[in-house]
Amino acid sequence: MKVATVVGARPEFVQLAPVSRALRQLHEECMIHTGQHYDYAMSAQFFEELALPPPAYHLNCGSGSHGAQTGRMLEAIEQVLQEEQPDWVVVFGDTNSTLAATLAAVKLHLPVAHIEAGLRSFNRAMPEEINRVVVDHISTRLFCPTHSAQAQLAKEGVIQGVEVVGDVMYDIQLQMEPALDARAEGLLRALEVEPHSYLLVTIHRPANTDDVNALGRIAEALNRLAMPIIFPMHPRTQARFAAYHIPLEKHIQVIPPVGYLDMLTLERSAHRILTDSGGVQKQAFFFQVPCVTMREETEWIETVQAGWNVLVGSDIAAILVAVERPMPPLLHEHPFGNGDAAVLIAQSLIQR
Ligand code: UD1
Ligand code: UDP
Repeated sequence: MKVATVVGARPEFVQLAPVSRALRQLHEECMIHTGQHYDYAMSAQFFEELALPPPAYHLNCGSGSHGAQTGRMLEAIEQVLQEEQPDWVVVFGDTNSTLAATLAAVKLHLPVAHIEAGLRSFNRAMPEEINRVVVDHISTRLFCPTHSAQAQLAKEGVIQGVEVVGDVMYDIQLQMEPALDARAEGLLRALEVEPHSYLLVTIHRPANTDDVNALGRIAEALNRLAMPIIFPMHPRTQARFAAYHIPLEKHIQVIPPVGYLDMLTLERSAHRILTDSGGVQKQAFFFQVPCVTMREETEWIETVQAGWNVLVGSDIAAILVAVERPMPPLLHEHPFGNGDAAVLIAQSLIQR
């Protein structure tokens, strides 16, 4: 089969890595990069570290408002799909690249396989929630990371073509973990922190970054924490901190976005992780590092139910209390599969 994979933003490069590897064992892959993320640290670095082949097509669609960005991608992806006529179009998660690729494919009557199907925040103010709902309802095959995702699709009447395979981000984390030991010492020394004696922070959700009060409260909470903080900052967040003139104290080291391997290394040795990222919540859970999620809701409910993740929004007191909470009980099993989700997906696509 010829399988077109479409990616564009940082989380999709991570999700693509194990899937691309598994697909290439059985199928011909035609990789399409929309160019939604384009800085070296947000894109090319991931291709290098994850040993991904260069995309067959790079569409250079870049940043913009939701309509402009999605529209550019839709037009460009359509042209490629018309040319390539793949047997499957594979999309990941919930970005604008995911939405554009799915819309382009279904209108050409090409079947779409959605990886990370069935996730919901139930917050329609999140651009990703709109993307997920639309993509799940028009895809042919839906690969769910968990049974709760499958149950959610069933509630919405989506039953045909649904399969629980596990989480491809768990697959890749397991595959890359052996490479982390060699990096840890040098990386932590360069940042002048000791293992398990610092906090790791990421923020990039518009609900936090584009609201001066929310970002100000989060900064205030970080300023009040005593432990050293490592804060790899997304370009959207860098721009907002600069525009709002929000100060951060000296114990907070703001660094450019780091590559996937450094990110995993920093996560694994963190005392606590504070984030609004979807992927980072899961990675914290896989490493058994307590997570504080600066959102009102999460798609990854199992991490909260198991006690390893706490939702705090941008409330200063709640953030401080959540950081100080004791370690939850260790887990001996988890609901994100066996590390073979990508292989199961590649095998499943043999049947059209
Ligand atoms: C996107 C996804 C989000 C995902 C996140 C991962 C959508 C709607 N959002 O959000 O689901 O969690 O990626 O990081 O698709 N920018 C740069 N350089 C880059 C990329 C972006 O400077 O390489 C800046 C631009 O100013 C851009 C802004 O960041 O306008 C936001 O980028 P965009 O891709 O629109 O959204 P993200 O916030 O990254
Ligand atoms: N990530 C990274 N470097 C960073 C921040 C994040 O490698 O500086 C990784 C992160 O570990 C995850 C992926 O990028 O695997 C996507 O995370 P992001 O927060 O960008 O997106 P989300 O998962 O919220 O959609």
